[in-house]
Amino acid sequence: MLKKLKTPTTYGRTSRPIVVLSMTVVAIALTACTKKQAQELSPDDEEETVTAANVSYINFAKALFETKCSSCHAPGRGASAKWTFSGYSSVKDNSTRINNAVLVTKSMPIGGSLTVKEIELLDAWIKRNTPEN
Ligand code: HEC
Repeated sequence: MLKKLKTPTTYGRTSRPIVVLSMTVVAIALTACTKKQAQELSPDDEEETVTAANVSYINFAKALFETKCSSCHAPGRGASAKWTFSGYSSVKDNSTRINNAVLVTKSMPIGGSLTVKEIELLDAWIKRNTPEN
């Protein structure tokens, strides 16, 4: 009798930290998703007219690298050893190589292409010394 009562009590005590940990992980995951969606839905990004005169990393280049390059160049992806796209400085520090690969030799993006407008804006952005904002 005593033995039967003791078993569930011990089980309850040991499993509690695991339950708390799981709930924390779920909470963090939910918070991360909400923040990301809020950023993506920000109306500022879509309403601003981007021109060669105001083109920046935030209003143009970031999205370009995310949509056209990160499938191969994000950390851990197939071509990340050649160049890893991991935010503003990863682009700024490699702007000469990026300029060469995309605009001069046009060897990038492999299997894809940039529109005339995208080429124009990327070129203007690099010529303006890759401003972040
Ligand atoms: C489908 C996969 C893929 C996509 C998409 C892609 N790349 Fe690449 N990239 C590669 C591979 C593979 C290499 C290595 C090629 C080689 O060494 O000949 C490479 C090499 C590079 C290099 C290094 C060139 C050097 O200096 O040796 C740069 C810079 C680069 N890519 C930029 C970009 C940019 C910018 C984009 C988006 C506009 C892009 N890539 C899209 C696969 C890709």
